[in-house]
Amino acid sequence: MNIVIFGANGPTGRILTEQAVAEGHMVTAVTRHPETFPHQNARLQVVRGDVFDLSSVEHAVSGKDAVLSTLGVPFSRDEITVYSQGVAHIVQAMNKYNVRRLVCVSSSATEPHYDPQGGFIFERIIQPTIIKTIGKTLYTDMRRMETLVKNSKLDWTIVRPSGLFETPAVTPYKMAETYIRGRFTSRADLANCMLSQLTNDQYLRKVVAVGTFAVKPNMLKLIMREAFQKKH
Ligand SMILES: NC(=O)c1ccc[n+]([C@@H]2O[C@H](COP(=O)([O-])OP(=O)(O)OC[C@H]3O[C@@H](n4cnc5c(N)ncnc54)[C@H](OP(=O)(O)O)[C@@H]3O)[C@@H](O)[C@H]2O)c1
Repeated sequence: MNIVIFGANGPTGRILTEQAVAEGHMVTAVTRHPETFPHQNARLQVVRGDVFDLSSVEHAVSGKDAVLSTLGVPFSRDEITVYSQGVAHIVQAMNKYNVRRLVCVSSSATEPHYDPQGGFIFERIIQPTIIKTIGKTLYTDMRRMETLVKNSKLDWTIVRPSGLFETPAVTPYKMAETYIRGRFTSRADLANCMLSQLTNDQYLRKVVAVGTFAVKPNMLKLIMREAFQKKH
């Protein structure tokens, strides 16, 4: 397929790009910083684009068979709009060029579920702190994005991972509609799950949760890295 990836230069986007090229897709990787993009391949085109700029989104989407988005920004106290405005532009461009298939990343934190086996510290302190304070503006915008995607007439799938971490390869991850009990998702698994949506309609116009269970990261290290040390 001829696919375009928004957020391609982020940690998940780079893995997704590699996997998509390896599967034989023609890939257009969209980034605001093409000079920092690490991969090269005959089937890969890297283009400069900012999702706030509709014309660059339209240019990237035109002529494609499917759109994947791993767009993201770090937590911030300020209002975040990149998810909702970015996806609004993507949906607009897809409608304009009659591109139907959209797979975009959201987060399990947009619809938290209480897990009685999750432990007091995680369920009552860590998770609420992240969702209601540190990540409040981000998850508010992700929910706006989800509503926008669900209200579109596109062939969409929203993919909700839990805390992201790195594994050297794809693991035997699990998927379930809306919610899966599991705190972590490997970026390789998330990328593989997104790509698999292009050839499988099980989660068409559905939210799919994806979790990694074969490998467990150190939770404290992961939270410190993802919440406080990410630079953009
Ligand atoms: N971290 C976690 O634990 C976690 C958990 C659940 C869900 N998620 C979500 O999973 C997704 C992937 O996360 P990630 O950590 O791999 O990636 P990420 O670091 O959140 O960011 C992905 C990329 O989005 C691009 N981007 C940001 N603003 C943009 C704009 N205005 N126009 C175009 N591109 C823009 C940036 O690339 P350029 O600067 O090169 O343009 C960035 O590298 C994100 O949506 C994230 O919120 C994360």
